[in-house]
Amino acid sequence: MSNKATLQYGDKTYEFPVITGTENESAIEIGKLRAQTGLITYDEGYKNTGVTQSAITFLDGELGILRYRGYNIEELAGKASFVEVMYLVLYGELPTKAQLAAFENELTMHTLVHENLVKVFEVFPSRSHPMGQLMTMLSTLSSFYPESLNPNIKPEETNLTIIRLLAKMPTICAMIQKKGKGHPILYPQNKYDYVTNFLYMTFGNVSEEYVADPVIVDAMNKLLILHADHEQNCSAATVRIVGSSHANLYASIAAGVAALWGPRHGGANQEVLEMLEDIRDNYNGDVEKVVQEVKDRKRMLMGFGHRVYKNFDPRAKIIKVACDNILAKLGVNDPLLDIAKKLEQAALNDPFFVERKLYPNVDFYSGIIYKALGFPTQMFTVLFALGRLPGWISQWKEMRERKEDIGRPRQVYTGPTERPFVNIEDRK
Ligand code: SDX
Repeated sequence: MSNKATLQYGDKTYEFPVITGTENESAIEIGKLRAQTGLITYDEGYKNTGVTQSAITFLDGELGILRYRGYNIEELAGKASFVEVMYLVLYGELPTKAQLAAFENELTMHTLVHENLVKVFEVFPSRSHPMGQLMTMLSTLSSFYPESLNPNIKPEETNLTIIRLLAKMPTICAMIQKKGKGHPILYPQNKYDYVTNFLYMTFGNVSEEYVADPVIVDAMNKLLILHADHEQNCSAATVRIVGSSHANLYASIAAGVAALWGPRHGGANQEVLEMLEDIRDNYNGDVEKVVQEVKDRKRMLMGFGHRVYKNFDPRAKIIKVACDNILAKLGVNDPLLDIAKKLEQAALNDPFFVERKLYPNVDFYSGIIYKALGFPTQMFTVLFALGRLPGWISQWKEMRERKEDIGRPRQVYTGPTERPFVNIEDRK
């Protein structure tokens, strides 16, 4: 097939190169379109626009395939630890034993946050949303490392910033949960691995010895792996575009957290649980009634639908199975899981959802596991952010290494054409 695309406009014909990726995805490169034709492309919501060439994550929305650096998500979730996946996503290869040990050691050495950051944290009102706190804490981190804000410094310095962010994230997330409970914060313990340390700081208690439950550690690793990256989603695209102005990494990541917070993106995991509770409490578990309300456009089915997956989200499949296993292992019998399964079945059998190719996404079942593990609902999106951090950083790093231009979309202007200024006395 030709590696050129032809555009006919007016009485002229133009040719544009077609680029093809390693999985045979092809794209028309239109960088010179405006210069040659006077036209721009119009694609609201970037539904059909490739903004970069990326080697991090591959997903096929029709076949339900997701791979980080070539490795299938099913294998990674079943066989790797979150720290191994962090390394893979960031540096491109699975670590050897020695590389993993060195990486874990680096992370362990940077888990503490400055005591003045703890003071900043103390002033949040007790009811402030955890995602607002997270966003603020991550951007505030920049104040403590003014020497490393310039992203054009040496790669070793940038790597130190990356390690600092990854290492401090669990500490900050755990502090947010402790604050919500009114409990004293716990400092990280070097004897624990990354995930266990997070669970200790979150669920441990100053007055007692903490004993990690392997079922919970395993579940947490799996959930974090499933969230680690997802190519050019809303928050990753935000991180890349903010970083493209050469803003520092802390600011770029804080912007990603802001994008993730929205209920159409990561915020959906909180909304799913609230929706299931609503069905339990106010609909007596009647899922058919809720499906009818969705079809009548009175509400959306949170945790359903995806911009790219038009068959199924492979992460949702893994989480659904994990949900059954984890609840059984923990001896939790949650009626919300039954409601979720009934709701899924009712939706999957209904032409409204079938025609629109709406399937459960990563957020549909994750909240039920988080709840079983003991996390409050408002923390769910923070957990998504904890998992997604290596992905955001990798996207930022790749964008910097590719020396990408500043992100700057164009528009089709639809406002008033030129008109004369009207003095205030003459305005009607
Ligand atoms: C994430 O992009 C990523 O990769 C994101 C993510 C990641 O890992 O980073 O996978 C994480 O954000 C998962 C998505 C979480 N959000 C939700 O669960 C919220 C509910 N879902 C929808 O808001 C929606 O499905 C989106 C935002 C996820 C996707 O939107 P699209 O692709 O732009 O689809 P659309 O809005 O154009 O909808 C197409 C049709 C519309 O109906 P019609 O106007 O054609 O009749 O489907 C309907 C929509 O109204 N629709 C839904 C629906 N989702 C879409 N109707 C009811 N309930 C829904 N959830």
